[in-house]
Amino acid sequence: MALREILTEGDPVLNRRSRPVEKFDQRLHELVDDMVETMYEGDGVGLAAPQIGVLRRIFVMDVGEGPLAFINPEIMEEDGEQEGPEGCLSLPGLFGIVSRPQKVRVRAQDRDGVFFEMTAEDLAARCVCHENDHLDGILFRRHSQVPLCSFDELPGYEPEEEAEEGGEA
Ligand code: NI
Repeated sequence: MALREILTEGDPVLNRRSRPVEKFDQRLHELVDDMVETMYEGDGVGLAAPQIGVLRRIFVMDVGEGPLAFINPEIMEEDGEQEGPEGCLSLPGLFGIVSRPQKVRVRAQDRDGVFFEMTAEDLAARCVCHENDHLDGILFRRHSQVPLCSFDELPGYEPEEEAEEGGEA
């Protein structure tokens, strides 16, 4: 396994549409392993192949239940809505407020080409939508309801207020 360099906003590769994966071979397995390692190194919950310069329809995700690889993913259904902070390893230090479905049904192939379906909710749904956007060359800046800023500067985020609320619990 090897760490890959994460491209940042401004690199035109991030704005391009990725092509489907056709070969589920050793090379793909190595790519997926590298993506997982690179995601963990960056402390991210998801990473899409174009972020490391590979224009293929692949993303990895770990929202606390272990790493999952989604190859040639398709979002089949969306349900509900959640609004909240979002960031991206390709826009380091920048956050926005993005509205996403609360729940999505996603169909994809695993690293061996086997199809699977899963329902992702809350953070997992947000992550699936964010990563799937990367495969179409879309960065979350496009969806943010506020200008991107540091996490502490997000409107409505009051560190002191939160500390008080936390103290009351
Ligand atoms: Ni991202």
